[in-house]
Amino acid sequence: MKNSIKPAITLSLAAAVAGIFAAAPVAAQSQAPIKVGFMLPATGTYANLGNMIENGFKMYVNEQGGKLGGREIQYFKVDDESDPAKATDNVNKLIKRDQVDVVVGTVHSGVALAMAKVARETKTLLIVPNAGADVITGAMCAPNIFRTSFTNWQPAYAMGKVAADRGHKKIMTITWNYAAGNESVKGFQEGFEKAGGKVTESLTLPFPNVEYQALLTQIASQKPDAVYAFFAGGGAVKFVKDYVAAGLNKTIPLYGPGFLTDGTLEAQGEAAQGMITTLHYADNLNTPRDNAFRLNFAKAYKANADVYAVQGYDAAQLLATGLKSVNGDFSKRDQMLKAMGSATIDSPRGKFTLSPAHNPIQDIYLREVKGINNEVKGVAIKALADPARGCKQS
Ligand code: BEZ
Repeated sequence: MKNSIKPAITLSLAAAVAGIFAAAPVAAQSQAPIKVGFMLPATGTYANLGNMIENGFKMYVNEQGGKLGGREIQYFKVDDESDPAKATDNVNKLIKRDQVDVVVGTVHSGVALAMAKVARETKTLLIVPNAGADVITGAMCAPNIFRTSFTNWQPAYAMGKVAADRGHKKIMTITWNYAAGNESVKGFQEGFEKAGGKVTESLTLPFPNVEYQALLTQIASQKPDAVYAFFAGGGAVKFVKDYVAAGLNKTIPLYGPGFLTDGTLEAQGEAAQGMITTLHYADNLNTPRDNAFRLNFAKAYKANADVYAVQGYDAAQLLATGLKSVNGDFSKRDQMLKAMGSATIDSPRGKFTLSPAHNPIQDIYLREVKGINNEVKGVAIKALADPARGCKQS
């Protein structure tokens, strides 16, 4: 009798043990944190932009109690130094070494282009929280690549229309010679010339050079009606100050996409007062959503929120939408990507949806600098979608 019972007990025990072990990987997997890899600049002219993006992202996660779709979030970080030459190695540190589930980055368009190439090859989920390189949501668009910021074309095209509406006929442009600067100038030219203006000359200097003097002398001698400039971060602070120190602002108004005056006003001080720019965010939208965001951000980080903080916050919101749709089960990838693509993001900038190419369709505000704020004067173009040239995703 004893002998006949023993095997039955042993078998059922074995089955139970086997069951526990079979279930273990699933349970462990669903409880393991989602690994988020930040690839952002921590040094150089864009360092502060990277910091604001990271803070915005983390603030949203903290507001959700540290979990998205029921999963804890674990962070990994690489300083990309805004250096395209190091970008492939850097993104591979996150993907291959750290085995992250999602890469969030970056600021610099040239670096982001290399990241998007790797993301396409490895099918890693990539959320771009700033870099505007048009082609990322153009010819390089992919089911696993999303952007919560803008294309370089969007604010630039809107500024072209604004400059023409303000009666300017001949404008010179000036920027750093890299993807973002060149695409920004091209977008501006498209909007301005379509409305009857003419870009008479385009000046460039290498990124992140800030020796503007010789180019400012050229502007002074050519006397255009106005100047359109793309610079950001530390380079924008110096450019606006140098422009005013050269006395050019007295006769030649300076315009740009909002990066010229966003996150920079305390350092630019008097030099930036009255400047008109276009961007998908402003400092006094005065909506309940934005007011709450700005208050929480100021409390958490003892700093005023800017467009970069908003873009980081919205990158976390987009990831949350995807994870919630699959109850945190990252293996349901197609379902998750679909939910992200059809998300409506309740952004501090105003609600937005994504285009089929995964870039925000958003209002571009007309702003004027008053004190330390980019105050909204109106909407330059409502619900502006990037043309997504070359994207074959529908
Ligand atoms: C860019 O490289 O795409 C970029 C950098 C700073 C501000 C805006 C755009």
